[in-house]
Amino acid sequence: MAYASGVDVGSTQTKAVVVDEDGHIVARALTDTGANVVQAAEKAFGIALKDGDLREEEVEYVIGTGYGRYKVSFGNTQVTEISCHARGAVHMFPETRTVIDMGGQDTKAIRVSEDGEIVDFCMNDKCAAGTGRFLGAASSALDIPLGELGSTALRGERPVKISTTCTVFAESEVLSWLGKGKKIEDILLGVHKSIAARSTGLARRVGVEEQVTFTGGVAKNEAMIDTLNERLGVEVNVSDDSHFMGALGAALFGLDHILASRFPGKAKVAS
Ligand SMILES: Nc1ncnc2c1ncn2[C@@H]1O[C@H](COP(=O)(O)OP(=O)(O)OP(=O)(O)O)[C@@H](O)[C@H]1O
Ligand SMILES: [Mg+2]
Repeated sequence: MAYASGVDVGSTQTKAVVVDEDGHIVARALTDTGANVVQAAEKAFGIALKDGDLREEEVEYVIGTGYGRYKVSFGNTQVTEISCHARGAVHMFPETRTVIDMGGQDTKAIRVSEDGEIVDFCMNDKCAAGTGRFLGAASSALDIPLGELGSTALRGERPVKISTTCTVFAESEVLSWLGKGKKIEDILLGVHKSIAARSTGLARRVGVEEQVTFTGGVAKNEAMIDTLNERLGVEVNVSDDSHFMGALGAALFGLDHILASRFPGKAKVAS
C-alpha cells in the first residue's frame, strides 16, 4: 500500500493528513502553528504518523501547503492552498463549484469548473475582519472558548449590528455592546452575521455557483454555517474533515505523483 501526505501549515493551525492509494484519509493531525513554523510542520506530520500507525518510510510523497508550505522541510514539494482546498473540496463533494475557506487569518473564495479546475479565486486583502481572527477577538473579549462561540451565538435572537470593519477594533466594539447591556448571545450572533456578510461579499466576487463547500477551521463553527447559509441562500457542504480539506488536497496531489511514477502517462499529476 502506498501512502501520501499533505501538511497544511496555516497562519494559525497546522494540519496533516495521510491518504492511502484509494485517496481515503487514514490519519490526521492538528496542532497550533505558533512561532516555530518548521517545528509545527514536523510535529503535525509526527502526530499523523502515530495516528495512522505508520512509519515515515511508508509515506512516499509529502506535499506542503498553506502560508508556511516552504517550511515543510521534509516535504517533496509545495502546492498553493488555493489549489489544495479546491482539490480537497471536490474530492469530498464532487459537485462543488464554489469553495469558501475560512481560516485564522484569511478567507478565500474559489470557483471551480465541472472538472474541478480552478476558474477564479479571491482573498480578503490584508484584513482579517471576515476570518477566524475576528472570532478569536470576540472569544477573548467575552471570555468564551472558541469551540463554544457558535453554540452561544445560535441562542441569540436579536443580533447587534457590528459596525467595525477591522479586527483591531472588534474587541472594543464587543465590549461596548456588553457595557450597553446587550446579551452575549446577541452580540455573538451579530459578530457571526458580520463575518458571513463579508465572506459572501467575497464569494460573490468570484460568482457563487452551487454546490458551495465550506472549508477551514471556521467550518467547525455551527453558527458560521447557519449565517453563511442564510446569507448565501443555499446550504453549504460541510464535512467533519472540513478543517483538513487543504491538507487532504495536498495529500491527493502527492498521490498523483506516486501513481504517475508507477503508471507513467496514466495518472493525474499535480501542477
Ligand atoms: N473547534 C473549533 N470551533 C470553532 N472554531 C474553530 C475550531 N477550531 C478552529 N476554529 C477556528 O478556525 C481557525 C483556524 O482555522 P484554519 O486552521 O483553517 O486556519 P489557518 O489555515 O491556520 O489560517 P489561514 O488559512 O488563514 O492561514 C481558528 O482561528 C478558529 O477561529
Ligand atoms: Mg488555511
